[in-house]
This record gives sequence, structure tokens and C-alpha cells, in this order.
Amino acid sequence: MDLAESLPPVWGDAQHLEHVVVNLVVNALEALPDAGCGVRVSTRYVPEDHGLVLEIADQGVGIAPQHLARLCDPFFTTKAARGGTGLGLAITATLVHAHSGRLTFHSAPGQGTCVCVTLPSADSTRTAAAARSAEAR
Ligand SMILES: Nc1ncnc2c1ncn2[C@@H]1O[C@H](COP(=O)(O)OP(=O)(O)OP(=O)(O)O)[C@@H](O)[C@H]1O
Ligand SMILES: [Mg+2]
Repeated sequence: MDLAESLPPVWGDAQHLEHVVVNLVVNALEALPDAGCGVRVSTRYVPEDHGLVLEIADQGVGIAPQHLARLCDPFFTTKAARGGTGLGLAITATLVHAHSGRLTFHSAPGQGTCVCVTLPSADSTRTAAAARSAEAR
């Protein structure tokens, strides 16, 4: 864990955001080939984006390039034999987008996977909402 000491707050549903983190961490753990491999969870603030970044990087098996575009499709799974439903990332992507966030994946077979969730800070959400309501007037 490498968590930033002070991050600006985010507007959102704490339970839904917890679901996002748990889904991503479980996927990362499920991808590890053996106990010598690990998962690193980190957070940081990116001022130019007015956004918070949650990064989950694993030393797992990685993802085939032809699968990358399908990861968040409902029922897409490579773990059917192990009971995977393929709904974890579909739900995660829906929840991240409901918080005006972005979800990105960097991976290659044998090279591990890095998943980034970017969420707007509460300040930037308020500023955008104020601008929209001013435009509507
Ligand atoms: N960190 C990761 N490393 C390697 N592959 C991943 C990773 N995260 C997701 N995947 C791939 O994306 C697919 C879809 O993930 P998703 O979480 O939606 O479903 P699942 O994990 O297969 O099943 P469920 O989450 O419903 O138990 C996985 O089957 C796997 O192939
Ligand atoms: Mg999953």
C-alpha cells in the first residue's frame, strides 16, 4: 500500500466506491500465479486533472491484447471454469462512470496489469455543477 497522506474529498457513494476497490483488488489477487507475486495499491492527487487516482498494479499473468477491449463487457470472463461470472468489471465500470470517473487498463501477457481509477475531486465536481447551472440560467 502506498496511500497519499492527504487527498481532497470526492463526492460519491462510499459503498459503491468500496465495491469498485474490492472488485479490482480481487481481480488482481486472482491473477497472481504464486505467492511470490504481489499487488500494489496506491493513491495520488493529480492537480492538472483535479482528480484523484487509485492505482492497482499486480504482478499477475497479464491480459491478452485481444481481450483488453472486452474486459468491461457484461459476462466476459476467462475464469468460467473457476466460477467467474464476468460481471465484476461491468459493474465496476458502471459505478466509476456514475461518479464521472475514468477506468483504464495497461497490461500485457506475462507483464502484470495496472488498473487506474481517476475520480474528480469534490471541488471540481462543484465547479462543474455551478457552471452548468449558470449556463442553464
Ligand atoms: N488484474 C487482472 N489480471 C488479469 N486479467 C484480468 C484482471 N482483471 C480482469 N481480468 C480479466 O478480465 C476478465 C473480466 O473480469 P471480471 O472481474 O469482470 O470477471 P471475472 O473476474 O472473470 O468474474 P467475477 O468478477 O464475476 O467473479 C477476467 O475474467 C480476466 O480475464
Ligand atoms: Mg472479477
